[in-house]
Amino acid sequence: MKIIMLGAPGAGKGTQAKMIAEKYGLPHISTGDIFRANIKNGTELGKEAKEYMDKGLLVPDELTVRLLLDRVAQDDCKNGYVLDGFPRTIPQAEVLDQELSKMGEKVDYAINVDVPDENIVNRMSGRRACLNCGATYHIVSIPPKKEGICDVCGSELVLRDDDRPETVQNRLKVYHEQTQPLIDFYEKKGVLRSVDGTLPMEEVFAAITRILG
Ligand code: AP5
Ligand code: MG
Repeated sequence: MKIIMLGAPGAGKGTQAKMIAEKYGLPHISTGDIFRANIKNGTELGKEAKEYMDKGLLVPDELTVRLLLDRVAQDDCKNGYVLDGFPRTIPQAEVLDQELSKMGEKVDYAINVDVPDENIVNRMSGRRACLNCGATYHIVSIPPKKEGICDVCGSELVLRDDDRPETVQNRLKVYHEQTQPLIDFYEKKGVLRSVDGTLPMEEVFAAITRILG
């Protein structure tokens, strides 16, 4: 099963993608997490990506597409995957489609986690992320067991550099201009399913599992 998560920054794509990945035994592939791991490790790719990410801009398609195609060519992706944060532009979606159709395959579901802009800034300022394993928390709605420490791997939790309110506004603008058109793109292909992302995360997940079966 090949699943794409769509939604504004902070809509809960990562939170839901992890739960889907676990329930259905699929790898969770987040381009944002891959970029952040590269930044943390000081790689060339990380240095290049950081320039864009800190401004709330998208990393250029060329770089992102290469990274993603390498990742989905790996063995663990044979039975499908959950893509979180990719595609984010129409050209990215077209490349993915072309690559899949070469193998006689296609995207099965594009799940749109729908959250209005008003809710987003609040979510972002409360988010705490683990840069080691990618787990995400919220200081009010989904707190870690021990303040500031990741439940999964014990690393320190941080506020992401791009979660400052000014940057979040920019990410929202970029989302509406470049990523939202994908909703139409996948609707036309008949694979779009929308869920109400303002509900508590377990309810959002229940709605998704009703769709995926
Ligand atoms: P990326 O890491 O993908 O960031 P994003 O899309 O902005 O999304 P977020 O990770 O911020 O939010 P999310 O939807 O995953 O929400 P989460 O589950 O954490 O990308 C970062 C940057 O990398 C981009 O800006 C770009 O520069 C670059 N990039 C990445 N992919 C790219 C691509 N394909 N092309 C070009 N550039 C790319 O939840 C948010 C918060 O809400 C958390 O605190 C969570 O605990 C909480 N929460 C979740 N669900 C609920 C709920 N139901 N109720 C209450 N709180 C909830
Ligand atoms: Mg995320």
